Amino acid sequence: MSYSDKIDEAVDFIKSRHSFEPEFGIVLGTGLGALVNHIEIAGEIDYEIIPHFPVSTVESHKGRLIFGVLSGRKVVAMQGRFHYYEGYDMKAVTFPIRVLKKLGIQKLFISNAAGGVNLDFKVADLMIIEDHIDLTKENPLTGANLDDFGGRFPDMSEPYERKMIDEALAIAKEEGVPCHEGVYTGVSGPNLETRAEYRFIRTIGADAVGMSTVAEVIVARHMNLPVFAISAITDLCDPDNLEEAKIENILAAAAQSEKGMTKVIVRLIALQ
Ligand code: HPA
Repeated sequence: MSYSDKIDEAVDFIKSRHSFEPEFGIVLGTGLGALVNHIEIAGEIDYEIIPHFPVSTVESHKGRLIFGVLSGRKVVAMQGRFHYYEGYDMKAVTFPIRVLKKLGIQKLFISNAAGGVNLDFKVADLMIIEDHIDLTKENPLTGANLDDFGGRFPDMSEPYERKMIDEALAIAKEEGVPCHEGVYTGVSGPNLETRAEYRFIRTIGADAVGMSTVAEVIVARHMNLPVFAISAITDLCDPDNLEEAKIENILAAAAQSEKGMTKVIVRLIALQ
């Protein structure tokens, strides 16, 4: 069965369960699950029963689609995402993004946890992604182009919608939430970076680094889907004073950012 047929089968299955037509898609990243508490839930589907859907292996991620109303708008949220380091190829990682588009979403909202390479950042600050650098090991668009979704050579001149970035920055300012805008570098993981790699990442113009998001954004842009993405800065990547990264500290920092990030996304969605 072709990749496109698999997408269609997953979409048909979801539609057979829920007639709900989401306007927006949301990818909930590491430790940023509290947004779910703001959604008036209309239905849920576990990933494991959706045909061809990958199944998340990361403990801190649950695996289900949540349909509901957030800020008066119909949304579908991915509670749990897929990472290349789990062993999925990038086509599997981004399969759900294709499915969400076919369910009718008109914008995509993404959150993640990232290391702060910009030394002005503090742990638990937010960073709205305004551009990215792809240092991952595989591109999700490699191979035959999916012509029904978009063209062979997608434009990347504005991967993250400027209007939403400005709206979110204004919201964060009003709410007193520490928030920057910056460039995110996507890496494959699962190991964190060496000091030399952090130095390199900073030198090439990045402000943060993480193990997700970029492939999802590439696929979204292939489909001409406007994207908003925001990082919780969970650790500081200062090559000259590098502390050992501990997953429990990273999750604790993500939890600390949760309130601010939730406020920003809840209000941003209301504006769309
Ligand atoms: N590097 C890569 N991914 C990350 C980091 C980091 O320092 N922190 C959180 N996710």
